[in-house]
Amino acid sequence: MKLTQEQKSFVEDLLSRMTLDEKIGQMNQESPSIVGGFDVPFSELIEMMTDGRISQEEFGRIMANATQDFHEDEIRAGLVGSMMVNDPRKNNELQKIAVEESRLGIPLIIGFDVIHGFRSVFPIAIAEACSFDDALFEETARMAAAESRAHGINWNFAPMIDAARDSRWGRVSEGPGEDPFLGSRFARAKIRGLQNDRSSPLNYVAACTKHYVAYGACESGRDYNTVSMSVSNLYNVYLPAFRAAMDEGAATVMAAFNDLNGVPCTVNRWLLREVLKKDFGLEGFVVSDANAIRECVTHGIAADDRDAGVQAALAGMDMDMGTHIYKDFLKAEVEKGTVPMTVIDEAVRRILSVKVWLGLFENPYVPEALIEAYEKSLPEKHVALCRRAAEESMVLLKNEGGILPLRRGQKISLVGRLADDANEVCGAWAMAWKPEDCVSILTGLKEAGADVCYYPCGGPEGDINLEEADRACLEGDVIVAVVGETDAMSGEASSKAEISLPGGQRALLERLLQSGKPVVTVLMNGRPLALGWEAEHMPAILEAWHLGIRMGDAVAAALLGDVNPAGKLSSSFPSVTGQCPVYYNHPSTGRPGSKSKFTSRYLDAPWDSLFPFGHGLSYTSFTYEDLRVGERGEELEIAIRLKNTGEREGTEIAQLYMQDVTASLVRPVKELKDYCRVTLSPGEEREIRFTLKKKDMGFYDNAGRYLLEDGLFRLFVGTSSRDCLMQEIELKF
Ligand code: NOJ
Repeated sequence: MKLTQEQKSFVEDLLSRMTLDEKIGQMNQESPSIVGGFDVPFSELIEMMTDGRISQEEFGRIMANATQDFHEDEIRAGLVGSMMVNDPRKNNELQKIAVEESRLGIPLIIGFDVIHGFRSVFPIAIAEACSFDDALFEETARMAAAESRAHGINWNFAPMIDAARDSRWGRVSEGPGEDPFLGSRFARAKIRGLQNDRSSPLNYVAACTKHYVAYGACESGRDYNTVSMSVSNLYNVYLPAFRAAMDEGAATVMAAFNDLNGVPCTVNRWLLREVLKKDFGLEGFVVSDANAIRECVTHGIAADDRDAGVQAALAGMDMDMGTHIYKDFLKAEVEKGTVPMTVIDEAVRRILSVKVWLGLFENPYVPEALIEAYEKSLPEKHVALCRRAAEESMVLLKNEGGILPLRRGQKISLVGRLADDANEVCGAWAMAWKPEDCVSILTGLKEAGADVCYYPCGGPEGDINLEEADRACLEGDVIVAVVGETDAMSGEASSKAEISLPGGQRALLERLLQSGKPVVTVLMNGRPLALGWEAEHMPAILEAWHLGIRMGDAVAAALLGDVNPAGKLSSSFPSVTGQCPVYYNHPSTGRPGSKSKFTSRYLDAPWDSLFPFGHGLSYTSFTYEDLRVGERGEELEIAIRLKNTGEREGTEIAQLYMQDVTASLVRPVKELKDYCRVTLSPGEEREIRFTLKKKDMGFYDNAGRYLLEDGLFRLFVGTSSRDCLMQEIELKF
């Protein structure tokens, strides 16, 4: 995000004409409040229902009489800078009030959670990251931007780029997985996709990278929990994606709910002012997460709402999401001198700059024709991209005896409640899909011409009908079992203490196996699951995640062999839940896990992941040979021969890793440094080359300093983080 001199002057002129109330108004984000037949605030009403003081039915009755307040009067008075609304005509109406009826005519920035697509829902991020396809990351973001802007939303609360290594945390589904390098490439591509298409004023939005920072490290994978970590870990693992997003010009950032080493991110002056704004150069603004300023009181870091507001403003939190604390308290604090006017001016300058850069002053509205265009059926181009993204995001975890692909003409017994549920394909944080766009796996198979018969048998919740499973086995040549988690089992507030297949699904798989028929397991889920039992017993496993609206088409194409799976895991999978957090780029220990007792291991579970980061099979096979590492000036040239040794065309995602063997701080056993997608015909061989800049081989210490230390390095290239060829090299920087 860069402003011209003229745009900067426009912002300064506007700022000079604003009253204090209007300035604080810009720092205030509202969402529609529910008002009506009840005497308590809406938030308390929700609490009353969740803690059982009123029943769900009673809540429903109250809501039936309630109405939504869109804060029109406050917008008119210039007291609202941002809204969170998902209704294009309402957004036009609210913009009209802001632009034509408020004193200074400042348009609203309208935000919404458009995380993995809008009406065109793409795979959840942890799945899309498995494609290792930067061009795809960018294209899906570009389409999401155009669709949301056509809906009056000009600010997407995405990308979520929290590195996450503990799959008990439900929000692993929302981000690009466990690795900081992949996360950074994902972040950059998403920012380009959301922000850079200037071919029409309505094609781009402001990105909001979140959650800043280290939310993915919440203790024990429990959402909103505390985070404690060394500065070097923060800089090496959790900050890189944010730094990359800032380098790419991300317009805004959302602070995380958690505390970091005792200071909630919401009021963390070092994180916001020093690191984000000064060092990383954020030019736009920072918004709190929902209600997070008030939660500083519950954190026990602020005495009351007023104190929380003062701390947040001083720390560099520019916009308050939803508490009204800035609106209610900041004016008096500025008048008292607790909060300097310069703090307010800085926040407002940043917010206005984003609005100007977005072109909202020239184009605040969405033409009715555009709204209508997106209300009709989805354009073919959008459907095609949803399908391509879904196809690229699947990961073939296991394929013993080449059960997959299925042969045309085989009679398929499709089993599992999830297989026929088109409402489950989108996963967490999909808010604008339409049922008519969604394709279940059953529908996908039928439309692909498969000979398929469906037996629901049960799913992640409720009972399993084993008799029906027996019938499925009797009547089919091959069984395809779709098992996993519902969309509500991952995402925000969906942490789990046990992440093996929920409910009776394992019993279902056991029963299917007893038939002696070939059984293919298709996983539909939002987090890496603990699959030790399944990996040992089930012959073929296709990880299909929540793939978005065209899930059914993509899964059918992979099962039937029309698509050759190429995805690689963006997160390691554990055998059992107790291994969490488990990730490939673990710091070297003094006693690496091994068969001998006094090593870093468990008595009752493997020490290493079940399926490592980067793992993924294909219907063809690849070999890597002849790894060469050479030094050329400031770069390393790494070359290897890759051959398709199977019988069909396939795409391989080749991965480059390094290890800094001796350093002044303990370094990871491997670190991803590059990757590329290579498509080869049967028998085809190609030399692939990576260039690694020596300056990118360093690490951050506990003072946040970047170090490049001479010594021995190992370079690895291969098909996964576990299966690589290795070469050593001595380097001087
Ligand atoms: C809470 C979530 O943590 C965040 O990701 C989301 O963008 C906001 N609420 C707004 O819905």
